[in-house]
Amino acid sequence: MKGLVCKICKYIAINGTAPDKCPVCGAPKTAFEEKDDAIKTPADAGNLTDLEKKHIPVITEDAHIKVGEIQHPMLPEHYINHIDVYIDKEFVSRIMLTPEKLNPAAALHIKAEVGKLAAIALCNIHGAWIKEINL
Ligand SMILES: [Fe+2]
Repeated sequence: MKGLVCKICKYIAINGTAPDKCPVCGAPKTAFEEKDDAIKTPADAGNLTDLEKKHIPVITEDAHIKVGEIQHPMLPEHYINHIDVYIDKEFVSRIMLTPEKLNPAAALHIKAEVGKLAAIALCNIHGAWIKEINL
């Protein structure tokens, strides 16, 4: 899936345009580059591989996010670095993670009652993976 990736912090704009300023690290528009494969998506959404099950975020109705259906490892050499959250394709939060004492998960108390909630998990080895649900 296509996205505009910030070279500094790996934030991915998913609304089709690079922001004037990166909402995560403040880098200028020029730090963004468009990539066709910025976000990985499953080959067959109805029949996920184990690798896909480990990376695609799972979002519950009350906006608890975990990575993933099979828990992703959190080892110094292989971990989920962060989870970025969007409402209607606009950035709302980044949850930074560290491998030593955390499992890859986050919870948010979202004001919006309608719209599309998306979470992107970034694995240090396997890249960025997205899940979108309707609120
Ligand atoms: Fe991974």
